[in-house]
Amino acid sequence: MRPPIVEEGNAMRVKFGDCLIELVQGDITLQQVDAIVNAANSQLAGGGGVDGAIHRAAGPSVMEETDRRYPEGCPTGSAVASAAGHLPAKYIFHAVGPVWRGGTSGEPGHLRGACQRCLELAVEHECESIAFPAISTGVYGYPMDLAAQQSLECVRDFLQTHQQPKLVRFVLFSGGAFGAFARVLESMTDSH
Ligand code: APR
Repeated sequence: MRPPIVEEGNAMRVKFGDCLIELVQGDITLQQVDAIVNAANSQLAGGGGVDGAIHRAAGPSVMEETDRRYPEGCPTGSAVASAAGHLPAKYIFHAVGPVWRGGTSGEPGHLRGACQRCLELAVEHECESIAFPAISTGVYGYPMDLAAQQSLECVRDFLQTHQQPKLVRFVLFSGGAFGAFARVLESMTDSH
């Protein structure tokens, strides 16, 4: 049976069992969810893009915590958790996506791995809701449509197996990113 699709403005929701995948256009630092995902680097050294925005909004306690708990950083294709400082969320999951090198250097597996580890961390930390940015699609150069495919397939497969977290939201910064994710999510509902 096709799951219901609800679209209003730049928001789209699709139910998978008891769980919801939601796409919105906006800023991830403002999300009222249990956990937000950061697009970090493997040194957890901070940077620009969404990483810079999250650390600026959360305050210095987050970098202090990641420096203390993860002095070795985090490998590409995985993620580590911290508290969320001044943000409305309880946790930040710092995910390290791959740098795009043409697609034949294991990029899809690494993007999926980072995404899946965030979902596992959400379950381990009893998060009912989590918000992702479009990991790797900025400085790391992953093509938006291919990133949307990997990320959404990862979430759909995880929800079908685990039935949690109850809400997985992708917060897309631009209309173009929103459109790319919406096209992929819509195509998934056809084959569901
Ligand atoms: N909210 C949501 N999405 C955002 C925000 C924001 N506030 N700011 C930027 N984005 C979007 C970008 O438009 C892009 O689509 O997040 C996506 C990921 O882009 P980057 O932040 O450049 O992340 P990534 O491509 O994974 O590169 C990671 O960049 O900032 C450094 O330290 C980071 O070295 C790491 C690298």
